[in-house]
Amino acid sequence: SSILPFDDVEFKVVTAEDSERLMQFLHVHYYREEPLTIGCPPPEPDAEDEAFLLSNVPHGTCLMALCGERIVGAAVAGPKMPDEAEHLFEEAARLTGTKWGRILGFLAIVERDANVFQRFNVPKALHLHALGVDATLRGRRIGERIVSALGSRGRELGYPVLTTDCTSIYSARLMERLNFQLLNTLPYSSYVDAAGVQLIKPPAPHDQVKTYVLRL
Ligand code: ACO
Repeated sequence: SSILPFDDVEFKVVTAEDSERLMQFLHVHYYREEPLTIGCPPPEPDAEDEAFLLSNVPHGTCLMALCGERIVGAAVAGPKMPDEAEHLFEEAARLTGTKWGRILGFLAIVERDANVFQRFNVPKALHLHALGVDATLRGRRIGERIVSALGSRGRELGYPVLTTDCTSIYSARLMERLNFQLLNTLPYSSYVDAAGVQLIKPPAPHDQVKTYVLRL
């Protein structure tokens, strides 16, 4: 039942046994280009960041797109509760001085400003944290199909909404095509330290995070 057919690509719910190769895939096809990751040094993600992504696997809310045995895309998603912004601010404070702490500090502001729980009056949400498609297979709508499959999975598990913070211009366009509703836009230039120095500087064309929601 975990195999959802979709043309030539099939979607499988990620299990604990898949975790290691999922992370290998994310290293090559997600982290190397994801704007927050490449927007603050060092280029590699922190171990806490990787551990956080993998902590979503037991919820049965992470999908991989397979072409035979080969992973061609992945979506890492998990449950989010109304105290999420508060939780993110606490985590960012705990991890002050680290790359992942700096990223979480920005995501906390993004979460607070999008305010999906009050605006949509929902008790929980499924949040897509990471989306990656094999760099040699971009432009085949694999990302779009995996997000659609994630919406079906979320509906099946009883989530009222699917949310995501699009840090990349490409993922934002993808959500627009899938009729997600834009909740909030936050420019990277707005995230500065006490001296006014920008904390995360992704390369062009990525200049803002766009938060989207889809009712399931
Ligand atoms: N660089 C250049 N062009 C791209 C990229 C890219 N990273 N991604 C997509 N495109 C182009 C495609 O070639 C295609 O062009 P076309 O319309 O001329 O054919 C168009 O954009 C649409 O492509 P899609 O098929 O919708 O995108 P795809 O599913 O292949 O990939 C994705 C989108 C998953 C966002 C991909 O860019 C990626 O893996 N990026 C690296 C990781 C990343 O930044 N993820 C998003 C972060 S936000 C989040 O995870 C919630």
